[in-house]
Amino acid sequence: MSRSSSYFKGEKFNALAKKEGYRSRAAYKLIQIQKDYKIIKSGDNILDLGSSPGGWSQVASSILKGTGSIIAIDILPMKKITNVDFHQIDLNDVSKIDILESSIVLSDIAPNISGVNVIDNENMISLLEIEISIVDKFLQIGGKYLCKCFEGESLNFLNSKLKDRFEIVKRIKPDASRSTSKECYVLGIEKK
Ligand SMILES: C[S@@+](CC[C@H](N)C(=O)[O-])C[C@H]1O[C@@H](n2cnc3c(N)ncnc32)[C@H](O)[C@@H]1O
Repeated sequence: MSRSSSYFKGEKFNALAKKEGYRSRAAYKLIQIQKDYKIIKSGDNILDLGSSPGGWSQVASSILKGTGSIIAIDILPMKKITNVDFHQIDLNDVSKIDILESSIVLSDIAPNISGVNVIDNENMISLLEIEISIVDKFLQIGGKYLCKCFEGESLNFLNSKLKDRFEIVKRIKPDASRSTSKECYVLGIEKK
């Protein structure tokens, strides 16, 4: 049976995550974005949305080294990570917890994928609407927002919302994202 290079790339990052002690291969997406854009700095106050099983929180925690703060939320449980304050709640309920003004909002949240583009994009846009209200409320002026979306409608939606809110908006496709997946990331730099 033949397998695509995208499949083998995914397997490579799964194996690497196991070897290096990361809870998900998603960790390598943030590691690459950090290498290219230096988004996280010592002392940052980070809000990690959709954090479980914890790869991004692990990466953020190892960069902060006990400085600043990390608040992570997910509807699923997440095992403890040093210096990460985790809350098992829905995205809609973020306002119910105590949050410091953040210097970075990270979101790796995606809806359950149905495989039907129209439905997946609609569900993604509903999540992005909530995320953007969180960014409006909790992200400080000058702050950064990194989030996942899909090529197509949800990317267009995000671009239109972020260009009014951030000085710079970039689309990113990290190596650890399967090339066959429609997933991509958008980074907003310097909230207005
Ligand atoms: C791709 S995973 C995140 C992986 C994580 N960044 C890591 O590095 O391990 C997406 C997460 O979003 C969460 N999620 C989806 N919808 C959510 C919602 N409405 N509220 C909170 N979390 C949600 C899922 O439970 C899932 O754990």
